[in-house]
Amino acid sequence: MKTQVGIIGGGPSGLLLSQILHLQGIENVVLERQSRDYVLGRIRAGVLEQGLVEMLRDAQVGERMDREGLIHDGFHLAFGGRTERIDLKGLTGGKTVMVYGQTEVTRDLYNARDDMGGLVIDEATDVTPHDIETDAPYLTFVKSGLETRLDCDFIAACDGFHGVGRQSMPKNVLKTYERVYPFGWLGVLSRTRPVDEELIYANHARGFALCSMRSPTLSRYYVQCALDENLDEWSDDRFWDELKTRLPEAAAATLVTGPSIEKSIAPLRSFVAEPMTHGRMFLAGDAAHIVPPTGAKGLNLAASDVYYLSRALIAQYQKDDETGLKNYSKTALSRVWKAERFSWWMTTLMHKFPDQGVFDAKMQQAELDYLTSSKAGMTAMAENYVGLPYQEGDEQ
Ligand code: FAD
Ligand code: PHB
Repeated sequence: MKTQVGIIGGGPSGLLLSQILHLQGIENVVLERQSRDYVLGRIRAGVLEQGLVEMLRDAQVGERMDREGLIHDGFHLAFGGRTERIDLKGLTGGKTVMVYGQTEVTRDLYNARDDMGGLVIDEATDVTPHDIETDAPYLTFVKSGLETRLDCDFIAACDGFHGVGRQSMPKNVLKTYERVYPFGWLGVLSRTRPVDEELIYANHARGFALCSMRSPTLSRYYVQCALDENLDEWSDDRFWDELKTRLPEAAAATLVTGPSIEKSIAPLRSFVAEPMTHGRMFLAGDAAHIVPPTGAKGLNLAASDVYYLSRALIAQYQKDDETGLKNYSKTALSRVWKAERFSWWMTTLMHKFPDQGVFDAKMQQAELDYLTSSKAGMTAMAENYVGLPYQEGDEQ
């Protein structure tokens, strides 16, 4: 088999890249290890920055999102018995975020790829990149017991944190930077009305809590938990009781509870791999970086990588201009590190650390107090939350 761009991974990064390239007449094939049902069964991110929203519209996959997604103009910070609102729209000159689940984004992308005749090969195992340092890279994979070779001009490794792309870069080229946090998030999805129209991030003496949603009838809640927490010990009742304890009184009093339809524990990690390019292979999304979910940046950061990479590939094919591809790693990493900083900062501000003393707790309260009483403080938070601008221009 032969194509122009071989894409490893059929998560949001790989599918969005595939869709954008297809619309520009660039041939590509997506190789996904899992079945489609498995990929569409994963409950992950829920908050989309405006940059991603616009990319989805431009890629002709924004119709259902615009119909069903919820535009949020702000969110709440609860701490020390107070609840303060961050007015995203007012503080950023009109920018907002869209609440629309990653699962739905992925479903829309799969449907679009199918409708346009895109080639997404599910259950492709043993995907292996070869000769990435040459002008003739290729991928091998096994489908239904048969080994196949896919020759391509470029490889996009959009295969997530545990993917094969980053792992096939030489050890002496790759530098990694990591922080593993000493807690996780226990998440519950329930078919109940969200407790508030906007998200609530709560800093509480018992640990962090978050009220989020997927739709007016589907809620997503999280509580900070220990890393070695046993999911079996968390009945729905125990989860709701713990959540109520950590929420502001008014929210706890109106919280509608119900059976969980999904319950899982996610570890929290900050991770960056540098560079994001090796030879003719480019890393995008979780393959290159992980953020703790506190700032809702994971999916959005994957989207900005795809923005830079797709533009660079389009310039290469349509104008024979290789500048974008040459600069991809540098351009993408500049935004990646800023989102890493914001996610790390918000995680540190909102969580209870196991070794946290009374002084540290006081520092968190003072910072939250300062932040929510200062227009400059709130503006800095809002600017980062709605998403920093994508870098434009030839220097990419
Ligand atoms: P992925 O979504 O991981 O997609 C990579 C794809 O590659 C997968 O489909 C995988 O099956 C496939 N793949 C892997 N290895 C191979 C291989 N060898 N060959 C072929 N295919 C392969 N972000 C938020 O903003 N908010 C959240 O609440 C949130 N919750 C999360 C919960 C969990 C459990 C996880 C893991 C992530 C969460 N994230 C969250 C982060 C966000 O979901 C990711 O940043 C986003 O999925 C990145 O998209 P991606 O396409 O780069 O990677
Ligand atoms: C979610 O809805 O899953 C969600 C929202 C905001 C976050 C993290 C997760 O910061």
